Amino acid sequence: MRKKTDFLVLGSGIAGLSFALKVAEHGKVIIVAKGNADETATRYAQGGIASVTYPPDNFEKHIADTIGAGDDMSDDEIVKMTIYEAPQRVKELVKWGVRFDQEPGGRFDLGKEGGHSEKRVLHHKDSTGFEIQQALLNAVKMHPNIQLLENHFAVDIITQHHLGIKVTRAKKDITCFGAYVLNPQTHKIYTVLSRNTMMATGGAGNLYSSTTNPLINTGDGVAMVYRAKGMVEKMEFIQFHPTALYNPGETPVFLITEALRGYGAILRNHHLEAFMDEYDQRGSLAPRDIVARAIDNEMKVSGKSHVWLDSTHLNKNEIINRFPGIYTKCMSINIDITKEMIPVVPAAHYMVGGIKVDKHGQTSIHNLYASGEVASTGLHGANRLASNSLLESLVFSHNASVNVLENLRNSKFKTDIPDWDDEGTTLNEEMILITQSVKELQSIMSSYVGIVRSNLRLKRALDRLEILNRETESLYEKSILSSEICELRNMVNLAFLVIKMAMQRKESRGLHYSIDYPKNLKIK
Ligand code: FAD
Ligand code: SIN
Repeated sequence: MRKKTDFLVLGSGIAGLSFALKVAEHGKVIIVAKGNADETATRYAQGGIASVTYPPDNFEKHIADTIGAGDDMSDDEIVKMTIYEAPQRVKELVKWGVRFDQEPGGRFDLGKEGGHSEKRVLHHKDSTGFEIQQALLNAVKMHPNIQLLENHFAVDIITQHHLGIKVTRAKKDITCFGAYVLNPQTHKIYTVLSRNTMMATGGAGNLYSSTTNPLINTGDGVAMVYRAKGMVEKMEFIQFHPTALYNPGETPVFLITEALRGYGAILRNHHLEAFMDEYDQRGSLAPRDIVARAIDNEMKVSGKSHVWLDSTHLNKNEIINRFPGIYTKCMSINIDITKEMIPVVPAAHYMVGGIKVDKHGQTSIHNLYASGEVASTGLHGANRLASNSLLESLVFSHNASVNVLENLRNSKFKTDIPDWDDEGTTLNEEMILITQSVKELQSIMSSYVGIVRSNLRLKRALDRLEILNRETESLYEKSILSSEICELRNMVNLAFLVIKMAMQRKESRGLHYSIDYPKNLKIK
């Protein structure tokens, strides 16, 4: 079972699709998505995409906000490159058919979010991601050189390791020759040979019990590259979005965009105090790490399971027109946001670290690129500025496409790759073993590796995870592959990376906050 393609793209979100559209003029592209092609984090993006558009905003301000939110850990050159490139990438989105909201005079209507010193977020109401996903997917479906392989699961990337050659992380000559891709319906595994591979598998919110991410975000790309001995970094920085709708039992949790706070909504505690003013002079619009930590603290102090987001003082018609998705969703659970406050709670939202890439999106493995949430580019530092991630995906997918095309002559097919070996495995009938392990893992991560951490909690998480790891590896070795067992294994791999990197960081920085190394402690 073999397929051959010039460009293999793993992932059908903004990173994968925008890359595919750019390289498709120069060769055959296969895009693999583990669910339906439109089931991505991209699709659920609400706030929008940050880009400097009109004065008084300027590039310097966007650069300073990005570096500030990142707690001074961003790569300055990468920040500058990304922010200067933003307007060109936004123009391309418009060319692909994305409709950003405009004011009556034709200027783009810009939103504001936490950590931004100016209004600079282009958006389509409160469903920007849906608009982008549809536009890109339509363009991809019309392209004769692109084949979409939906409901297929990438298991591992192919390197020399599969030819029996030992590879180590220290080695600089690992090369990617494609990927093994499972059809979960038939349990057959394709050997997909490619000249260049783009890893665009998104984030890993499902490591936690409560996340804004769709079910597909289980960190598969990072796990695949780490297993292939590629470089992975900054996994300790997991971003919790401060305001997910508190609606017990709902998974994934529904996001209440930060743009609503940018529009004037205010966070209140159970005494109805606008508590954020005590934590940061920017109040409800402070960067996310600060707001999420403050909410976490308010909840612990009050013993309540949420705080409130108050938009009742805002103009009713404007709110309904600007945030129709949120209005409708809240109405569906009998909350009229024009009259009642919204119960909100932080939830796992974004993976800042990931596969280490350079400014071209090139990983430490030859012929393997990474873009989007799976990549660690240096843009976000220790905490991502709101609405910088759709932008990052576009910039790095563009840069990768330029680099891949410049080097196309040097990337050749490798044809002597063996097919996947599943000898000695049997179909695992006991799905309960997998689902229960996923729940245990999510509980460990949520209890011990959340918004506030400590050495003791991290050590406890590591001990628990070691048991899960042993059980999962033993199950994996015996099982005919399914996406469920692969996801569990990937999530265990990722949890290890998060915990180990968190244990190595002997400071509080951005999203990694440890009570053993307190910094700027503004906790009551
Ligand atoms: P995704 O869009 O998540 O796509 C991942 C793709 O990889 C999917 O097609 C999936 O099927 C595929 N995949 C994964 N694993 C495998 C595998 N093993 N085999 C095959 N395929 C696989 N950012 C902003 O900048 N602005 C916002 O307003 C914003 N709002 C957000 C709101 C929500 C609710 C969420 C969850 C995120 C938001 N973000 C926002 C973050 C942003 O949406 C994501 O970081 C970005 O969309 C990631 O895009 P991506 O292409 O990297 O991955
Ligand atoms: C939001 O709309 O609040 C999410 C924006 C983001 O994650 O960048």
